[in-house]
Amino acid sequence: MSTTQVEVGGGAPYTIHIGDGLLGDATLLARHLRGRHALVVSDEHVSPLYGGAVVAALQSARPDARLATLVLPAGEAAKTFENFNRVITALADMGATRDACIHALGGGVIGDMAGFAAACWMRGIDCVQLPTSLLAMVDSSVGGKTAIDIPQGKNLVGAFHPPRAVAIDTATLRTLPPRELRAGLAEVVKYGAIIDAGFIDWLDAHADALLAMDATALSAAIARSCRHKAAITERDPLEHGERALLNFGHTFAHAIEAEQGYGAGLNHGEAVAVGMVLAAKLSARLGMATMDDATRLTTLLERLGLPVRIPGGLDADALLARMRLDKKTAADGLRFILWDGIGRARIVAGVDESAVLQLLRED
Ligand code: NAD
Ligand code: GLY
Repeated sequence: MSTTQVEVGGGAPYTIHIGDGLLGDATLLARHLRGRHALVVSDEHVSPLYGGAVVAALQSARPDARLATLVLPAGEAAKTFENFNRVITALADMGATRDACIHALGGGVIGDMAGFAAACWMRGIDCVQLPTSLLAMVDSSVGGKTAIDIPQGKNLVGAFHPPRAVAIDTATLRTLPPRELRAGLAEVVKYGAIIDAGFIDWLDAHADALLAMDATALSAAIARSCRHKAAITERDPLEHGERALLNFGHTFAHAIEAEQGYGAGLNHGEAVAVGMVLAAKLSARLGMATMDDATRLTTLLERLGLPVRIPGGLDADALLARMRLDKKTAADGLRFILWDGIGRARIVAGVDESAVLQLLRED
């Protein structure tokens, strides 16, 4: 089995392992189980497919350990206080001690929610991220952001809690629904858009291979994305500066997701695709970049089967109101990640609300 490793340095270093079949690697899965309690948290789609393999691997490597599994509902609508509380209750019921470990098996919803429970239980226990969606592999499992949603906004309650390790089993992508594969590709495109123009060229050349689930192309895209995320989050783990670039398109996306209702309409990756196009268009309107760059990004996202316009029926004023509550908004007004062109994103504070409103109304 050939695996790629990406190291994330800094104050809480860890390794991202990328390979085909890693969920059956008992040694790797058990390596980070310091104590005797392991809780595998997954969702109702992923658990029947891979939960058994993870539990069997942990059991074979650590027959002395107390293992429990918790299966939560799938999807963004499940990223709630109630389900977070179920993770905490499961830890309490098994008597988890401070050296316990949560294995978060699933997409970004499970990774964020289980990671947040790990951050909170006894003020912080280990969490091994086992991402099974492309989006979670290239983004949410790396960097330590954990959260749940509340009705007022997405990810508004959470913590920074770096994983103990990330094990990306690329074989799990074979069961990922095509729509979710495309959603993950939006976050892959994001790295090219913000800091790696050459990646956009590569994605242009490999779009068909990625959509056809070509294993070599997917592994290359995952590794390149993880290297970017690792480097940025290592330099700026708490988002005091450049990490905010990873939110390119997200101020728009989070507003769209919250406004349409979590789990209804666009999923997170799709909303990010629309948001990135809006950010590129806003950059052009503000005279920072050419419209040609926005068009090139739009064309690539469309080729990847992603939406590029705000869904009908969403009110521009309501979206703007959501943006004011976004975590990127500060006392100095709306703050966006915009770009000077492909591969050159930057943080822009004090963006004129009327320009944003006009864009939202016209899209
Ligand atoms: P998700 O977790 O809802 O997964 C998408 C769907 O795919 C779900 O129905 C899931 O059950 C299913 N699924 C996942 N893997 C599968 C597999 N291998 N086979 C079959 N079905 C599978 O959504 P997502 O797109 O993975 O993650 C989105 C979430 O991630 C959002 O809540 C977003 O806010 C969060 N996020 C967090 C960060 C971060 O840095 N923490 C970054 C980006 C996104
Ligand atoms: N997905 C944004 C971040 O991790 O910072």
